[in-house]
Amino acid sequence: MRESPRRSLNSPAVTQTESSEWTIRRVLDWTTGYLRRGKVDAARFEAEVLLSHALRVERLELYLHPERLLRPPERARFRELVRQRHAGTPLAYLLGTVEFMNVTLKVNCSTLIPRVETEEMVERILRDVPSPLPKDFRFLDLGTGSGAIAIALAKEWPEARALAVDISNEALTLARENAQQNGVAERVAFACSDWFSAAQGQYHLIVSNPPYIPSEDLGALPQEVSAHEPRKALDGGPRGLREIERIVREASGFLLPGGRLYLEIGSPQAEDVCKLLHETPAFSRIEVHQDLAGRDRIVYAIRRGDP
Ligand SMILES: C[S@@+](CC[C@H](N)C(=O)[O-])C[C@H]1O[C@@H](n2cnc3c(N)ncnc32)[C@H](O)[C@@H]1O
Repeated sequence: MRESPRRSLNSPAVTQTESSEWTIRRVLDWTTGYLRRGKVDAARFEAEVLLSHALRVERLELYLHPERLLRPPERARFRELVRQRHAGTPLAYLLGTVEFMNVTLKVNCSTLIPRVETEEMVERILRDVPSPLPKDFRFLDLGTGSGAIAIALAKEWPEARALAVDISNEALTLARENAQQNGVAERVAFACSDWFSAAQGQYHLIVSNPPYIPSEDLGALPQEVSAHEPRKALDGGPRGLREIERIVREASGFLLPGGRLYLEIGSPQAEDVCKLLHETPAFSRIEVHQDLAGRDRIVYAIRRGDP
């Protein structure tokens, strides 16, 4: 939501020739109604976020200077953002960044927009993994997308090293940039990989938010998701289990004894995923955790053996 450089709205903004109609207050009122008619839920909030983005100011400035007139280039910028939002482009893609845990991440249409459920998984990992970390702690993030999980964990664990993989080179380009921006690029390596194909050795932790939407449900996703976010990030095959099965089948071989596996799942998949894990003798302590809404969203397992 942030954009820099910011400048003050106090600066003389308008020439005499500009229309007196385009004050911040009127533009916001009009846009709120327009977005609402376009079925945008938080229409007022999004109108404000888009306007502050177009004007390159903090949202608070809109309240401080409601009678400020928009300059023609600002109007043009804002009009284009509103047009795209009304047409269904996700807000995060228009702003170009999202906040995820403790980091700001660039996002574009080659990456999934990181979700709050994934933040909850990262929070759980941070609570579960004892501190201080074991010496030479290494973790693997499978399907890193924007780099969200790997970067957030690496920032919280300054002594950890990670490998973050994705099958999409476009996503990896952005993830590398995000790692750089967040100061963790020296500790997070990125690789183009079909799940474990680029992984080497064994890790203390494997984490993944894989594609888990059942192919048969893709058509029922909100248009904002299905038309804009990458299919590779969403489509989990029949019943959403195709990629999860592949990960579970190989994961134990890449975990150190006592190593932990965390998977984000769709809530109806918990039973199937637990069954898969129970069928893998290398795993013990298989648990399901709920998100804040009480839905099963995280499956956890531990690799047998003493750390
Ligand atoms: C649901 S997204 C998760 C992105 C990110 N980790 C997050 O939580 O926001 C799944 C990611 O898995 C990647 N992916 C899909 N199939 C893959 C495969 N066979 N090997 C590696 N990555 C894959 C997609 O490109 C996508 O970036």
